[in-house]
Amino acid sequence: MRDDRRRPPSGDHLSPVQEAFVRRVASQCGYCTPVQLMAASALLARNRTPTLADIRHWMSGNICRCGCYPAIAAAIQDAAAELRARDPSA
Ligand code: FES
Repeated sequence: MRDDRRRPPSGDHLSPVQEAFVRRVASQCGYCTPVQLMAASALLARNRTPTLADIRHWMSGNICRCGCYPAIAAAIQDAAAELRARDPSA
């Protein structure tokens, strides 16, 4: 019997946050992207209606040398809207 809980994601789909980063071109060199995605996901797990100020404050510890901050913030707002649309009760 296989324990599917231990299997990694199949990789055939992106999370709403990943999709929004792609759509908004919120990455250039990609060096910072993994931590940006993790931080954005953590924010949206706690707050599905973050303001721009909330996003800037939450993400302030993550440096992007390519200066993708506006696109990252826009992607987080898009992902928040998508998550709210998928589950309005959350
Ligand atoms: S995308 Fe290059 S450091 Fe952020």
